[in-house]
Amino acid sequence: MYHKFLDKFPPQFLWGAASAAYQCEGAAAEDGKGPSVWDAFCRIPGKTRNGTTGDTAVDFYHRFEEDIALMKEMGLKAFRFSVSWSRVFPEGEGNINRKGLEFYDHLIDRLLENGIEPMVTLYHWDLPLALQEKYGGWLSRKTADAFVAYAGFLFARWRGKVRWWITFNEQNVFTGLGYRFAAHPPGEKDFRHMMQANHIVNLANARTVRLAHQMDPTFRIGPSFGYGPSYPLNADPGNVLAALNADAFNNDWWLDVYVKGRYPRFVLKHLERLGLAPDIREEDYAILEGARPDFLGMNYYHGGTVQANVFENPQLSKQKTLDTTDPYQMQADMEESPEKVMFETARNPYLESTEWGWEIDPKGFRVALRKMYDRYELPIIVTENGIGTMDVLENGKIHDTQRIEYLRQHLLEMRKAITDGVEVIGYCAWSFTDLLSWLNGYRKRYGFVYVDRDEQDGGTLNRYRKDSFHWYADVIRSNGNSILPERTIDELTEQEWKQVCQK
Ligand code: BG6
Repeated sequence: MYHKFLDKFPPQFLWGAASAAYQCEGAAAEDGKGPSVWDAFCRIPGKTRNGTTGDTAVDFYHRFEEDIALMKEMGLKAFRFSVSWSRVFPEGEGNINRKGLEFYDHLIDRLLENGIEPMVTLYHWDLPLALQEKYGGWLSRKTADAFVAYAGFLFARWRGKVRWWITFNEQNVFTGLGYRFAAHPPGEKDFRHMMQANHIVNLANARTVRLAHQMDPTFRIGPSFGYGPSYPLNADPGNVLAALNADAFNNDWWLDVYVKGRYPRFVLKHLERLGLAPDIREEDYAILEGARPDFLGMNYYHGGTVQANVFENPQLSKQKTLDTTDPYQMQADMEESPEKVMFETARNPYLESTEWGWEIDPKGFRVALRKMYDRYELPIIVTENGIGTMDVLENGKIHDTQRIEYLRQHLLEMRKAITDGVEVIGYCAWSFTDLLSWLNGYRKRYGFVYVDRDEQDGGTLNRYRKDSFHWYADVIRSNGNSILPERTIDELTEQEWKQVCQK
């Protein structure tokens, strides 16, 4: 849809930036904090780039006041951060660590004093290690109980101060990378376990949303989902069907549960046939159906392109040596990759990628916003969007033109989506300062603020404003108009006015 004029951003639009505890706080064993699964996982040789850890990260724990001063200078309206569960409950449940809790009390108070809305993520992947060891992490319903108790405690503590809550960050990513691909803790390769852990997180999510609404009807709560829309490689109907399958498998599988309280039918049926569906108890349905988020958080980096699966795609089956005559082998393949019969990934010839191979696709952002809103009709907060680059500090300056261009294009597409009719109420760029990239160390930088540190914990940890810092400050100051100034009828040229009248 082409719009000659774009709608303004709503007056209360939440212009924000995001972070996560493990990636920025540091102070990994300070003031009584208990270890998380990430504190242990990063010590396994070969798991993170050059063995980088979040031990010091960018020292947000000690420098948050300096960072908030920069946020204020920028004019930031909202700051999304996560609470490190084991900083507050070192064992995940039971004893409270007063000092850890006070750190977040101060952080929230300083944000509010500076007119910045705190947006609290309850879980950004750093499960208390004690819960992993005691219960087997998310494979146990006891971990869900502990999570709901932890969330309820924070709700009571910050009622009246915090309005915006995020339950889980990218449940699709941490269950997939943790239980299926062994790239995150607990480092398993078991699709069944992924499904089971995921189901238990779904229960924890629904119980937490319900509890939040019971405790304070003014709370606004929802999950942050890692959303990537699926494109068919071309108009071949087999590829179009593959894209439907990919959306169902990669997106609806989570989002339907959050909003509708049930798993999407096609994927569930497929997994049941393979004996891979989660173990759902009768009482679980009522829990899932008994909660509805107030908004959906979208983390958008890129989507994906797919084509018909290898069994139905003559071109692909010629390239791959497939033995479809052996039912045992097929069942084994399917247990590892049930999507094999649904779709096959493909390279999108229209898109360029970053140095880390992430496609750059601003239009895909509009597609994502449209699709998510269309299916769920809930307000959307973009809880992450940004680009990782290797920024260079030269004479105190960082000219991150690629970031500015990336964000400009994405914000423009978001504004078009708003003009289309999507209800977007906030946007958090990833990230405010540079921080740790879980698997890629410290050289993949995302921030508006450069932090002087290297992979080996060398550097002053001093902060420097990048060019994008000043650019985003302008965006906020103009409520998004600086991206593409909104024009009024009075500003039309005579020629343009004639065209409008002739229509
Ligand atoms: C999201 C996560 O998946 O992507 C963030 O929520 C993460 O925590 C971000 O840092 C960027 O990913 P990466 O791997 O480039 O750091």
